[in-house]
Amino acid sequence: MDKKKAIALLNQDLEGEHAAIIQYLVHAYAMGEGEMACEIEAIAREEMRHFDWLAETIVSLGGIPSIRRGEMRTGGESVSEWMRNDVLQEKDAITMYQQHIKSIGNPQIKRLLKRILSDEKSHRGDFEHFVTKAQKEGARDLRGSRQNKVIKVLDWGIEHEYTVILQYLIHSYLTVNEDVKKQMEDQAINEMQHLGWLSEKMVNKKGAPRIEHTKVDQSTKTVDMLRADIKIEKKVAAEYDRAAREVTEPDLKELLRRIRDHELYHVDVFSDLLRKEEERGRDR
Ligand SMILES: [Fe+2]
Ligand SMILES: [Fe+2]
Ligand SMILES: [Fe+2]
Repeated sequence: MDKKKAIALLNQDLEGEHAAIIQYLVHAYAMGEGEMACEIEAIAREEMRHFDWLAETIVSLGGIPSIRRGEMRTGGESVSEWMRNDVLQEKDAITMYQQHIKSIGNPQIKRLLKRILSDEKSHRGDFEHFVTKAQKEGARDLRGSRQNKVIKVLDWGIEHEYTVILQYLIHSYLTVNEDVKKQMEDQAINEMQHLGWLSEKMVNKKGAPRIEHTKVDQSTKTVDMLRADIKIEKKVAAEYDRAAREVTEPDLKELLRRIRDHELYHVDVFSDLLRKEEERGRDR
């Protein structure tokens, strides 16, 4: 099999992981703070590791990781129905990995896919268990349908955080500068925290997080990446600052300020990296 074909298959796997991550996070956030929600979040984190491994493999083959998201199953009236949907998601993943393991010849990639497959089988078992557990414990959908200024701010924040998570991950995979790569990975994890905080707050305030993103910068040159990242950070730091001033609830004010401070830190970190990258460009 040629490289191109392998890249296409791995990108399909990547899109499946992407869908699973968001589907499981939506479920976990909607369930509030219980034990089951924590376990589902832990599964989502394992899917993030799969996402990471697949993306790195795609890059090592000379490909570009896809930022598209596969099909999600976000319907269902009760938590146990959601869990049934998560079982189905895992079953699809298992079938796909089994097929791709057969079609891919490269032994390292085969090994990686087998490793991921074994996780998916274990997740399927976990979700099957959660179907009955949710029924027994009467786990509830804690989301509301409130629409107000606060919900709007949270919506905006979630959309932004999801966008930069994808953007920084893609930049981390495509840059050849090791320092930039490390920082991008680190800050993507920090943005994931923001996404979690805002989503939990959203459910708290009786809204419903819909996790969608806006345009992701897909520059391939490190200087262009950093310029785009600094631009977006400056803009959102100002937005968070304005929102923190406008909202009246103290808990939300505090959360928005905390995130703003992180974003300002990101501006500084990325600006330092850009300066160094520009200097290196001049030396070359
Ligand atoms: Fe996975
Ligand atoms: Fe953030
Ligand atoms: Fe940031």
